[in-house]
Amino acid sequence: MKKEYLQQFYKKSHVEKLEALWEAEAISEEDYERLKNNTLTLPQDVANEMIENHITNYEFPFGIAMNFVIDEEEVLIPMVTEEPSVVAAASNSGKMIGLSGGFQTEMKERLMIAQIALKNVSDVEHAKKVIQENEERIIELANAAHPSILNYGGGARKVEVRLLPADAEFETPEFLVVHLIVDTGEAMGANIVNTMAEALAPYLEELTGGESLMNILSNYATESLATAKCVIEPKYLATITMDGETVRDRIVEATQFALADPYRAVTHNKGIMNGIDAVLLATGNDWRAVEAGVHAYAAKSGQYRSLSRWTTDADGNLVGELTVPISVGSVGGTLSIHPGAQFAYRLLGQPNAAELSRILVSVGLAQNLSAVRALVTEGIQKGHMSLQARSLAIRVGATGENIDKVTKRLQEAKHMNSETAKKIMKELTEEK
Ligand code: MEV
Repeated sequence: MKKEYLQQFYKKSHVEKLEALWEAEAISEEDYERLKNNTLTLPQDVANEMIENHITNYEFPFGIAMNFVIDEEEVLIPMVTEEPSVVAAASNSGKMIGLSGGFQTEMKERLMIAQIALKNVSDVEHAKKVIQENEERIIELANAAHPSILNYGGGARKVEVRLLPADAEFETPEFLVVHLIVDTGEAMGANIVNTMAEALAPYLEELTGGESLMNILSNYATESLATAKCVIEPKYLATITMDGETVRDRIVEATQFALADPYRAVTHNKGIMNGIDAVLLATGNDWRAVEAGVHAYAAKSGQYRSLSRWTTDADGNLVGELTVPISVGSVGGTLSIHPGAQFAYRLLGQPNAAELSRILVSVGLAQNLSAVRALVTEGIQKGHMSLQARSLAIRVGATGENIDKVTKRLQEAKHMNSETAKKIMKELTEEK
């Protein structure tokens, strides 16, 4: 990628942005044309096949976060979101982190879990034993239910048994739950593991004497943990009014607060998901699945806590770390039919599912840094207000260089509302 063409990307007009991407060799000529002619949209007839009672398509903005260096590679991050400050914030901390060496990521395995929940098992100890004894047969049966996965190097890998004891407080009976752990290859794998689980249920009923209640994927993807780390020199954290060391220490304290308090942790983690969800949406992945798993992971200690950790190393650098369960695919699903999602993959350089997971967790960490840094320095509203002023200016009809002028005057005005914006527009016309 010829990064020099992407300098000050946010200041460019729409056409200039597309040209810069093409000149930087970040997109192909075909994609340049598609973006220029706005043909990456979802065709109505395709959308009609995606959901029932389809009446129209509903659009969201697609932006690119800049400055990301992940495992020593420069990546442009596609983001789809309705929240104004998300892309700018990601780019901003992408830059701070990039200056200090970028993100280092890790993903040891990428396996999905299917649950076969059995009830009324009369002898659970015997049931556990026979399931373990027949693990090989169970794996064989699971693979036979979806044999094509073997062609892609995937398949069922192991079987685990969990006994959920009866609980008088919630009046829940005992359940014997069989987990089938599956390598779904490049697919997110929900269909694969659901098919396998359903096929296994009768055999497990026969083995255990129990009755299957349900057979379904678990979105708590604890066998697909992705980690991103970064080390930032304090000088890159400084703001106009606060030195880097102070900002670093306040970021560390902010995480301590979010580790201790679930009320803060939810908002802290929401900031992380602002980034992760935007990339999931852009790439056509199931963001509800990831959201659900991530929040469960945040509560794994028994209390809902911050997902990220920010600490200081012996050299005084700020060290960030985030681990989250990520279940995504790089084939099939929405990606096979949505031109925008297909473009997002091309922009990312066609990552495989594990690479995409590493990108997602890095974006989450970057998003968290921006939010927390703003919160412990000038506060979140300042940045939000300037973006709000800009969108207000556009809403009252400002175009071209007038957008900047109206935005500036709006920020200086006592009341930032559409009435003031209209008044400023009128003043500017009269001044002309
Ligand atoms: C807003 O969408 C996200 C933040 O609230 C996250 C946070 O508080 O860390 C700014």
